[in-house]
Amino acid sequence: MNMGWQMYLRRLQESDLKDRVMWMNDVAVYPSMGFTPPISLENTVNWYRSNLSNNKRVDCVFVNEIGELLAMAGLTGIDYSCRKAELYLFVNPNRQRQGLGKKATYLLCKYAFNVLHLNKVFLYTNAANIGAQRVYESVGFKLEGTHREERMVDGNYEDRFYYGLLAKEFDYDQIPLLMIGCNILIMNYIDVGGVKLRVVRDDLYPFVGGGSKARKAVAYEVFLRENGYNAIVTCGGIQSNHNRAMALMCAKNSWKCHLCIQGSEERFMNEKGNALLDRLSGAECELIRLEDTAVAMDRAMKKLKEEGYNPYYVTGGGHNLPGGTCFVDAVLELKYQCERIDYKPDYLFLASGTGSTQAGIVVGLDLVGWGDVKCVGISVARQQGRGKQVIVEFANMLAAHYGLKRDYSESIFFNTDYLCGGYEKFTPEMKDYLDQTTAKTGLVFSTTYSGKGFYGMMQEIEKYHLKDKNIVFWHTGGLMNIMK
Ligand SMILES: Cc1ncc(COP(=O)(O)O)c(C=O)c1O
Repeated sequence: MNMGWQMYLRRLQESDLKDRVMWMNDVAVYPSMGFTPPISLENTVNWYRSNLSNNKRVDCVFVNEIGELLAMAGLTGIDYSCRKAELYLFVNPNRQRQGLGKKATYLLCKYAFNVLHLNKVFLYTNAANIGAQRVYESVGFKLEGTHREERMVDGNYEDRFYYGLLAKEFDYDQIPLLMIGCNILIMNYIDVGGVKLRVVRDDLYPFVGGGSKARKAVAYEVFLRENGYNAIVTCGGIQSNHNRAMALMCAKNSWKCHLCIQGSEERFMNEKGNALLDRLSGAECELIRLEDTAVAMDRAMKKLKEEGYNPYYVTGGGHNLPGGTCFVDAVLELKYQCERIDYKPDYLFLASGTGSTQAGIVVGLDLVGWGDVKCVGISVARQQGRGKQVIVEFANMLAAHYGLKRDYSESIFFNTDYLCGGYEKFTPEMKDYLDQTTAKTGLVFSTTYSGKGFYGMMQEIEKYHLKDKNIVFWHTGGLMNIMK
């Protein structure tokens, strides 16, 4: 499936007003909106500022991944007593007739019903504007009445139509609502012995057990639903965060989940943390040898199909497209939050395993115009050659998905100096350092993933005198790994 360019909803901000005024003065916009040009920037800025604390309206814009403004829209006259609001929308004059109006109308209604919990969205449209009526009807609006001879157009009276859409009539499953500013990303500031860091707290990601694998699992949830899948097969180790997040996500949706778990039955049954959550999730847990993974996954896929399910094969670690696009979305949010505090990272560090997290972040940085931010993955398991190659391939594929022609061969930084011998291995110094950091900062790390990333980052900061640079640590979580 080509998910193509996405449309993101975010609140209108003052920097959008120049475009807003330009569009409002454009003949492709003002006749159908009832604006009377010329509209001045000064008045619009005053209007914007005076409405900042007005809770009876929400003004938004729709943008794509690179921040291009596609449409402006809003819900006005919000009446909380009967939970209804009037919708308005106008599309970028240079982007008309591309189906954006329909998509934006749909998404704004979804926002009205799902986020604002309104019961009804209504709008007025001119009788002559047949195109707009088609759009509203295709989203589910119903014509409720005609206001006769409401307008004067070129010396003739024109009717206006009143359209309404109720929450219970809306089709919620068409397109996912992606929001910037509301897309969950928590960023903290910490000082570790004089090193000032911003930390992306994906360890606190609030669904299916948290961590970056939970962010991925939520992206898969949307993908699976959109494509009519009702089962998955995936794989990972006994303490795999990926397996746990996918299993809980499936449980939430009553989807069948088959986990191929690489390890012994005895260890799996005796450990807590992710193993315990896998067991509780109701997933089918098949203990296998690492070298049998492909065969076991194929067998599980076949079995589920024979049982009448429509299963999706999720590569270990969530290494398919949704596992990368969700980090592009997260970077969009990161940039939005950084701009609000006038901050731009020079470096971004994270723990890197299968590499789709790192690839998603790198492509996201490129898409938002922050390609100069150096993103360094600290390897948690893989050696340089294969580890880096997999990330490069995934990043190239992801970039192509967004229409970017890029070769990341020279721009993936994958550091294998802190492997300590491989997956789940660590040194006493590392453990000691992380324990002390927890005691000083309240941040919790596992020595398997985020701890390796954090320790490696701090060593690199020291080694290359990066203390005064703007550094972001992307905390990928893994709390369950210390609860085993
Ligand atoms: C907590 C945590 N951090 C980082 C990673 C690495 O993510 P990726 O496999 O996308 O490189 C993992 C992978 O399992 C993880 O569980």
